Amino acid sequence: MAYVSEAARIPWAALDFKKTTKANPLLSSTESTAAGISTQSEHGDLLRDLAHYFAVEFSLWDGTTGDLIHGSKCQPVGDQLAMANLVLAIRDRREAGFIFDGDGVLSLAVPVLSDAATSTVATAWFVTRAIDANDSLNDAATLLSISADDTLLWARGQEVWSPKALLRLAEAVCGKRTAEATARQHACDVEAVSESLASTFEEISLLHAVTRNLRISSTEGEIAQMATEWLSECVPAEAFAVQYLPTTDDDSDPKSSDFFTAGDGQIECHELSQLIEFLELKRDSEPYIANANVTVGDDWPFPRIRQVIIVPLSEGNNVFGWLAAVNHRDGLEFGTVEAKFLNSLGALLGIHSSNRQLYREQADFVSNVVLALVSAIDAKDPYTSGHSDRVSRIAVRIALEMRCTPKVVNTIHMAGLLHDIGKIGIDDHILRKSGRLSEEEFDHVKKHPEMGFRILAELKPLADVLPAVLHHHEQWNGGGYPHGLNEEEIPLLARIMAVADSFDAMTSDRPYRLGMCDEKVDRILREGAGDQWDPEVVTAFFKARDDIGAIARREHTKLVEHWV
Ligand SMILES: [Fe+2]
Repeated sequence: MAYVSEAARIPWAALDFKKTTKANPLLSSTESTAAGISTQSEHGDLLRDLAHYFAVEFSLWDGTTGDLIHGSKCQPVGDQLAMANLVLAIRDRREAGFIFDGDGVLSLAVPVLSDAATSTVATAWFVTRAIDANDSLNDAATLLSISADDTLLWARGQEVWSPKALLRLAEAVCGKRTAEATARQHACDVEAVSESLASTFEEISLLHAVTRNLRISSTEGEIAQMATEWLSECVPAEAFAVQYLPTTDDDSDPKSSDFFTAGDGQIECHELSQLIEFLELKRDSEPYIANANVTVGDDWPFPRIRQVIIVPLSEGNNVFGWLAAVNHRDGLEFGTVEAKFLNSLGALLGIHSSNRQLYREQADFVSNVVLALVSAIDAKDPYTSGHSDRVSRIAVRIALEMRCTPKVVNTIHMAGLLHDIGKIGIDDHILRKSGRLSEEEFDHVKKHPEMGFRILAELKPLADVLPAVLHHHEQWNGGGYPHGLNEEEIPLLARIMAVADSFDAMTSDRPYRLGMCDEKVDRILREGAGDQWDPEVVTAFFKARDDIGAIARREHTKLVEHWV
């Protein structure tokens, strides 16, 4: 067999074949073929390991290409082209073996897995019997492709090994290296899992923080501002932006008032719109990441944007807007971790927008139901048409004067419209009677608060107005109906409603009498404060007296208005 070519012959005369090493300048350059510092370090560890067990320096071959990556300085290497095929065969066999064996000289090859993807094959020459000066090593010299004299000189300086011992030792080294590689891989896996857990924990913490503050009453702007500010603590971007899309088809361009940003960098509303259009992102798009592979070059028209992640604010098939992170704070590229953060937050914001939309639709539906009910009352009792609307407006004005919360004011608005809904159950001839009511008729009319309560009791969205409907005829002194409650036993909404209702009743014309003048009404209310009506409510009434007078004169014409 001709294993060694002329071109790859080693100048053996220059070598010291004793067990001590001596630099071979012809081979030192091959070390530069090792890939990277870490690989060199790994090869160094392997060579030290092998030298420790076998007491000779091995040559190393690339297990993928068969190229020589380290030539031994005190050992013959052999023909590199021929060796390449032999080491690849050993690599495929995945166990140590002899690739040359003859004349008492053999070459041991040891496959070593560095990791799942790369492998190395180590080779070294050994002598398996005592060699004396008269031995003929012609066959070995041929294998080594050096002269018989040089072969004899080298062989006589070598320790004699048993082939079996060599194989056993090689297997032990292989096992040790494989175990170490596995341990390293496990360490990498643990580190990756740890990083993933840390990232997931941050993501969960962010979502928890946002969710905890996610209320149906929070506006899109409040939620967007909060979310982007928290996001800036988790994702290393220079700027964050939330852009809500118009909710009507008539208005196709996003408004700057629906655009919210956070971070040190800048991005404008129109800039994000142009970017989304340029990238042809559709409402059903997946999260989009653009790094240098996209943003570098003449085709990229956004010089301020080097890296960007854009995700939709979606819920089901509905997209309510876009969330973007722009420019990595450290100039690096955005990856899946950052995209996951934004995607989760985008979904959360999308759900919030969807809930807000459903809430608005429900609120609109409730308003329409209330309007229908008010129309029914007005149709039933034409003499008091408009009364419910005026009482609602007056009660709201008093509530605002008393600094009630927006939620309470909104409830009072609804309660004012519905406070007499029970009159639907009162006989028409009584409601439309032009003269004064008899005691029996009045007792019948007095049932309307409880009738109204029963009518609305099953409508959950109107649950808050029930106390005002049931108790708006109670009196501060306990002389009212239906339960004869007094003072603060009467719900605040009902106490406010009582003043507004009485004022409008006294100032309105009736078939049997004209409405009272303002002076008389004011005097009655002042005299009744602390007796028929809550004095604090009456005080608030007079503080807002001018506005209430205007309401009574129907200067405010819009029937239903959202006060909050
Ligand atoms: Fe009433």
